[in-house]
Amino acid sequence: MNPGGILDELAPTVVSLYERHLSMAKEWFPHQMVQWSRGQDYDPEWTWSAGDFQTTKAVRSALFLNLLTEDNLPFYTLALHRTFSADGGIWGEWSRRWTSEEDRHSTVIRDWIHINRVIDPVALERARMKQIGVGYYPDYATNALEGLVYVSLQELATRIAHHNTGKHIEDPAGKAILTRVAADENLHFLFYRDLATVALELDPNAMMPAMARMVKTFEMPGTGIPGFEKHSYNVALAKIFDYTQFHDQVLVPVVLRHWKIESLTGLDDGAERARDEILAHMALVAEMGERFSKIRPVVAPQYV
Ligand SMILES: [Fe+2]
Ligand SMILES: [Fe+2]
Repeated sequence: MNPGGILDELAPTVVSLYERHLSMAKEWFPHQMVQWSRGQDYDPEWTWSAGDFQTTKAVRSALFLNLLTEDNLPFYTLALHRTFSADGGIWGEWSRRWTSEEDRHSTVIRDWIHINRVIDPVALERARMKQIGVGYYPDYATNALEGLVYVSLQELATRIAHHNTGKHIEDPAGKAILTRVAADENLHFLFYRDLATVALELDPNAMMPAMARMVKTFEMPGTGIPGFEKHSYNVALAKIFDYTQFHDQVLVPVVLRHWKIESLTGLDDGAERARDEILAHMALVAEMGERFSKIRPVVAPQYV
């Protein structure tokens, strides 16, 4: 959980990054972003149809995944607590702040979806019950270094997914909400990325194998969401989030440009091997992206 006492060594950095986070974070209010005057009561006999809100299948899939992922917050908080903050202190303070910021994401997205009838509310609620019932959380709870790598990649990937979803939404309020949520995710990403950078400086020989394991097994936190593969495919087809974006906009800027793993020196054999594995896996992700773009059907967006 705390290999080599790394969490204690990182605590002063957590203090300064937390202060930086608070100085950059702007207060915002979910209730101000939703067009409440559009709202109507839901008659229990009413059934949803795609004509209730004009958008594409890809946007509906992206919103479904984004929202249910945000809904799963209790388990991410549990993972964070087990990995970083069981002893409280500054790590506990950060994870409580992080949780309170994350908690407004599902609130504002769901309110906007319900007001505008973007997604079938019955299917959405059933999926939420199922997803939370699964109790999935990322499997890094035994190693703080793996946790730092995972959350760095995941926050950035989530920022991209929210931001690109917003770009595909024509309704200005919906677009603004997804952009606002993406801005929160960006600050989370910067916090974790810079913390992982210091961990890499402190213990590169432990950090590199942790990074290799997380890069090789990374997946968006969607396990347990009904229809996850189908919706991910729709999202990838629309280039909201796919392998190429994961490679070009997550792995390359973070692992290569920021953590600069190619130029690290003085690594032991295990860390050298881990670096080779990371680079080989990144090449594989790039290739998968290219292959996917070749088979990607050239079709107009489907409005359903
Ligand atoms: Fe979030
Ligand atoms: Fe986040």
